[in-house]
Amino acid sequence: MARRKYVIGNWKMNGLSATIADAQAIFAAAGDHPGVDVALCPPFTLIGAMVAAVPGAAVGGQDCHIASSGAFTGSVAAPMLADAGASLVIVGHSERREGCGESDADVRAKAEAGLAAGLSVILCVGEPRAVRESGGAIDHVLAQIAGSVPDEFAADRLAIAYEPIWAIGTGLVPTVGDVAAMHGAIRGALAARFGAAAEEMRLLYGGSVNGDNAAELLDAGDVDGALVGGASLTAGKFLPIVAAAAALG
Ligand code: PGA
Repeated sequence: MARRKYVIGNWKMNGLSATIADAQAIFAAAGDHPGVDVALCPPFTLIGAMVAAVPGAAVGGQDCHIASSGAFTGSVAAPMLADAGASLVIVGHSERREGCGESDADVRAKAEAGLAAGLSVILCVGEPRAVRESGGAIDHVLAQIAGSVPDEFAADRLAIAYEPIWAIGTGLVPTVGDVAAMHGAIRGALAARFGAAAEEMRLLYGGSVNGDNAAELLDAGDVDGALVGGASLTAGKFLPIVAAAAALG
């Protein structure tokens, strides 16, 4: 089946209220490409303002807690994201797996929390440089998939983002062949576990995607979109990626 291309901007810890104007520009221009699903994940502090400024836009969180409420100072629960107007949440980003010590079990619980709150989930996986260099990247990522993807979900509400850690924010990208091989392996593992539903799940590539390399990366086998960090912060850098996705249909 044809899977719609999906381009998501992850603003990470960037953005003040003035940057809502960038989101308005991005969503307005993305409207020229109705065949592509476009979403932005700003810091928690901007979700409500972004939803208010661009009604109907797909806005998401970058993380959520596993619990729906409670004594967890500084954390944000998935129902709170939904209440703020978010429709999706990223879980398992390597900056949280590595920087905050999140395990596969934690990521799975966060994905389940997001789904239970009615959000779509973007679940990130990816190998460190040493693992890529030792030839163990596919095994590493498939173990993350086995450990962090929940058992039950609607296929259109969970996407996987393959983000090699060594490619994030570095300007380095894997070869198109390596991306296709990884995405094919992920699709195969999902098919073995979930059957035909795996054909409906979108697999995104992330890590130094920009307007120059997007067309090639998005055209790789089993790549259904991109998770974009640095190049998602301005319309000028992000929209060429959306246009590249639109050109591929
Ligand atoms: P990058 O980040 O595009 O800046 O490499 C991608 C990500 O971490 O999602």
